[in-house]
Amino acid sequence: MQLKPREEEILRKIDRRRIPAHVAMIMDGNGRWARERGLPRSAGHRQGVETVRDVVRFSNYLGIKVLTLFAFSTENWHRPAQEINFLMSLPEQYLQTELPELVKNNVRVQLIGDPEGLPGQVRRAINEGLAATAKNSGMVLNFALNYGARMEIVRAVQALIRDLQQGKIEPSVNEATFAAYLYTAGLPDPDLLIRTGGEHRISNFLLWQLAYSELWFTPVYWPDFCRQHLLQAISDFQQRERRYGKISGE
Ligand code: IPE
Ligand code: IPE
Ligand code: MG
Repeated sequence: MQLKPREEEILRKIDRRRIPAHVAMIMDGNGRWARERGLPRSAGHRQGVETVRDVVRFSNYLGIKVLTLFAFSTENWHRPAQEINFLMSLPEQYLQTELPELVKNNVRVQLIGDPEGLPGQVRRAINEGLAATAKNSGMVLNFALNYGARMEIVRAVQALIRDLQQGKIEPSVNEATFAAYLYTAGLPDPDLLIRTGGEHRISNFLLWQLAYSELWFTPVYWPDFCRQHLLQAISDFQQRERRYGKISGE
């Protein structure tokens, strides 16, 4: 992979053996990026897809094991229909062009979120992506589409109660049993959460899974987010001490 001098420079500061295994991203700021250019919001979303293409490639190159991208929240249904329709055309567009490369690079596509609430065309595109990459053993690329963490937790509780009533599981529920009912079952929790676009909030993303993630915020709008920002986030992550409630250095 061809890197720019600035990217090389930051990459040299990074310990390649301590790349965060799971990186989650709240891809925010597309609308403001467009507005500042006098363009419709859709132009920001379109440019945002270009960022997704490169971030996925580069994450894979860096050896990130799981990349989770927040693409559409359960709250985003409150946007104007025209914007929702445009956003719903993007997964298909992305997968149409990228699927061959994802397959070749051993990337496994997954969906976190409620597929039932998605238009048929999106479900079909995603299902095709899931099927084509199901056997891949490399980076997991998790698209959070129609995802809300509170909805995820409530659904997990409902499924758990059902299984308890049917005697499928023991009544002694612990953290691990519960986590197995979340969309992220089987995946490690995010080590690093990146939010672009300048807001310092979680916006109903992975509330359970982010319990001990390192948070990294940048004012950079998602369409402007590039390799050097991801490298900087990883470099900063590596400077932090994850204490998990213990005393420093223990
Ligand atoms: C992120 O950009 C994309 C989605 C939430 C779908 P926004 O559309 O939220 O852009 P801003 O925050 O309005 O700039
Ligand atoms: C979060 O961004 C959701 C996604 C990036 C898909 P929003 O733009 O919807 O979040 P708020 O409204 O600023 O909290
Ligand atoms: Mg936003």
